[in-house]
Amino acid sequence: MTVTLITGANKSLGFQTARELVAQGHIVYVGARDPEKGRRAADELGAKAVQLDVTDADSIRAAAEQLQREQGRLDVLVNNAGIPGHVNSAGVPGHPSTATELTAETLREVFETNVFGAAQVLHEFLPLLTKSDHPVVVNVSSGLGSIAAVPRGEERAIPSWIPVPGYAASKAALNMLTAQFAYLLPDLRINTVDPGYTATDFNGHRGTQTVEEGAAIIVQAATVGKDGPTGQFLSVHGPVAW
Ligand SMILES: NC(=O)c1ccc[n+]([C@@H]2O[C@H](COP(=O)([O-])OP(=O)(O)OC[C@H]3O[C@@H](n4cnc5c(N)ncnc54)[C@H](OP(=O)(O)O)[C@@H]3O)[C@@H](O)[C@H]2O)c1
Repeated sequence: MTVTLITGANKSLGFQTARELVAQGHIVYVGARDPEKGRRAADELGAKAVQLDVTDADSIRAAAEQLQREQGRLDVLVNNAGIPGHVNSAGVPGHPSTATELTAETLREVFETNVFGAAQVLHEFLPLLTKSDHPVVVNVSSGLGSIAAVPRGEERAIPSWIPVPGYAASKAALNMLTAQFAYLLPDLRINTVDPGYTATDFNGHRGTQTVEEGAAIIVQAATVGKDGPTGQFLSVHGPVAW
């Protein structure tokens, strides 16, 4: 059976991904920073729970040791845990209203979870992934991490586009790590995905998609075949411009 770990899986997109992979027969570990929330989610799904705070190196190491003890390998890692970051002066998460609100501190906070956290999880679980005969990693990114999509010149008139410099930079960094790891580890299928704007706690449920729609590309990338894509930035509509 395929052994899968999903970070931040106690709710929302991670939880829905866990539900679908359990239904496909995976042994799913629900990673949650709050052990009680993780246990409740795992019980509801018929999954297993593992305490994992992606900003806490000791917690990540302990989670890897638990997987080593219980399964001896990891087949699929879904780096899903993420935060929008800085709450601006208008109270909107991830949206500094002015360029002057962006500081190293606001960037550090969002990078700590979305970039350093994902990187450290991958680092600690790589030895277990290399024991799989078909290791797969999914980094949950965002269309906002696309540098190509940032409006320039006349495109500045696009009304729906919102600047989120810290969050967007963190996802662009995650995308680059994905491309670099795909080069360094050709036996690994590692892709970065854009779930699309999905109604979750992340955006006060303003997203326009359901969690089923949002999780679709995560599930697709988690179940990619041995000859499937690697080093790609993907959505349900196909490749996303970097
Ligand atoms: N929703 C969207 O529209 C959208 C669009 C594009 C990309 N994404 C990305 O999709 C991923 C999931 O988003 P979501 O909408 O499901 O968000 P969400 O509803 O806010 O859920 C985020 C999950 O991540 C967990 N988490 C946060 N910090 C963590 C940490 N330090 N260690 C471990 N877990 C942590 C949360 O745990 P707690 O319950 O303990 O807080 C929660 O389980 C994120 O990476 C996000 O950037 C979302």
